[in-house]
Amino acid sequence: MKQETDFKMIAKTIFGLEEILSNELQRLGARNIEVHNRAVSFIGDVGFMYKANVCLRTALRILVPVKTFIICDEKSLYSSLQSINWEEYMDVKDTLAIDTVLNSDLFTHSQYISQKAKDAIVDQFREKYGERPSVDLDQPVLRIHLHVFQNTCTVALDSSGESLHKRGYRDKTNLAPLNEVLAAGMVLLSGWDKRSTFIDPMCGSGTILIEAALIANNIPPGYYRETYGFEGWKKFLAFDEELYNTIFDAAIDKITNHNQQIIGGELSPNVAKKAKENIKHARVDDVVSVKVCDIKDFEAPPGHGIVILNPPYGERMAKDNIEELYKTIGDTFKKKFTGYDCWMLSSNIEAFKHVGLRPSRKITLYNGQLECRFVKYEMYQGTKKVHKLVVGS
Ligand SMILES: C[S@@+](CC[C@H](N)C(=O)[O-])C[C@H]1O[C@@H](n2cnc3c(N)ncnc32)[C@H](O)[C@@H]1O
Repeated sequence: MKQETDFKMIAKTIFGLEEILSNELQRLGARNIEVHNRAVSFIGDVGFMYKANVCLRTALRILVPVKTFIICDEKSLYSSLQSINWEEYMDVKDTLAIDTVLNSDLFTHSQYISQKAKDAIVDQFREKYGERPSVDLDQPVLRIHLHVFQNTCTVALDSSGESLHKRGYRDKTNLAPLNEVLAAGMVLLSGWDKRSTFIDPMCGSGTILIEAALIANNIPPGYYRETYGFEGWKKFLAFDEELYNTIFDAAIDKITNHNQQIIGGELSPNVAKKAKENIKHARVDDVVSVKVCDIKDFEAPPGHGIVILNPPYGERMAKDNIEELYKTIGDTFKKKFTGYDCWMLSSNIEAFKHVGLRPSRKITLYNGQLECRFVKYEMYQGTKKVHKLVVGS
C-alpha cells in the first residue's frame, strides 16, 4: 500500500536534546513540529521519513503512529490490538519484535506487555491461517513500538529498526563510549561555529570528535548505515528504493570538506589507538587527529575554539583521585585553553565543585540512566573582571 500523503511521525531522543532535535527537523523541512518529553512529533511524507532517518543527528528512532486507543487493563489491550488489521502491515511469514515503553500505573513490566501484545498480533494470524509470524528480537521485518501513557496506548511502527545512534562507523569500543546521539547533541548545544578549533582532550574512543567532524562537513549520520527498518516494509508505506536512493544521494551531495582542526587527546595509548581506528573508519581522518597526552600537558592552538570533554565520572575511582582529576581539569582550562569555551559532561555533581571555575551554563542531559550536567566554562582572554561581567549579564 503506497501512501502519497503526509502523516504524523515521532522522533525519539535523549532527555535534554528535544529543542536541538526540533531545530534539526525545522531545517530539514518538517511541518507541525511539536516538542514533547524525549520526543518531537512532526508531519511529513514517506520521502521525509527516509530523510529524517538518514540526516537527523539527535534522533534515536523515527516512529510512525498507526493507532491510539484507551485501555483499562491487559484484556482491553489485547482486544484493542486485535482490532487492528495486522495484514495491512505484515505477512504471516514475516518476523516481528515489540518494544514497550510504560508510563502508566496500569502495568509494571514492559517486557510482559510486549509479550501480551505479541500474543494479540500472532493470534490474529493463527486464527486466519493456522500459522503465525515468529519473533525476531534483533532483525525483525516489522518492529512495533507500544507507548502506554496512563490509559492511552499508542501503537507505532519503528521505521528506523536498530537505534539511529548505531551509526556504523564504530569499529572498536573502549569501556565507556558515549552514545553517538548524545555526542552530536553536545556538539550542537555548544554552538560550535564549525570553523574554529574543536578539541576533546579526553577523547576515549573518539565519539565526540567524529560527531563534530560529521557536523562540520555536512556528513549525514546515515552515511555509514547499512539498513533501516522501513526497508522491510512491503505493504503500508512499502519501501520505495528509488525514492530512498534519490534522498540518500542528495544528502551525500551536500558533504563538504572544510579542513577544520579537530583534535583529540587521550591518556591511554591503547584507547587512543581505538579512537584512531574509529576516525579512519568514519573517513574523517583528514580533519581529526588524536595524540596520546595527559590533559594537563595538552597544548591547544592559540585563538578561539570549543573544548568538549566527557571525563571519568569516578564510579571506579577513589574519591580523592576523582576530585584531584577535576581540579586538574579546571586548572588546565585556565592555563591551556584561554580563549576557548570549555564544556564538560559528568554525573558527578560533587566532583564538579573541584573544577573551581564559575560555569556560565548548565544543561541537564542523560547519559544512559545517569543524570548528568553539561556545563560551560568561558575561558576569556584577559581579566577575571571581564569574565564575571559576562557571566552575570
Ligand atoms: C569517559 S571516557 C571518554 C569516552 C569518550 N567520550 C568516548 O566516547 O569514547 C574518559 C576518557 O578519559 C581518559 N583519561 C583519564 N584521565 C585522563 C587524563 N589525565 N588525560 C587525558 N585523558 C584521560 C580515559 O582514558 C578515558 O578514555
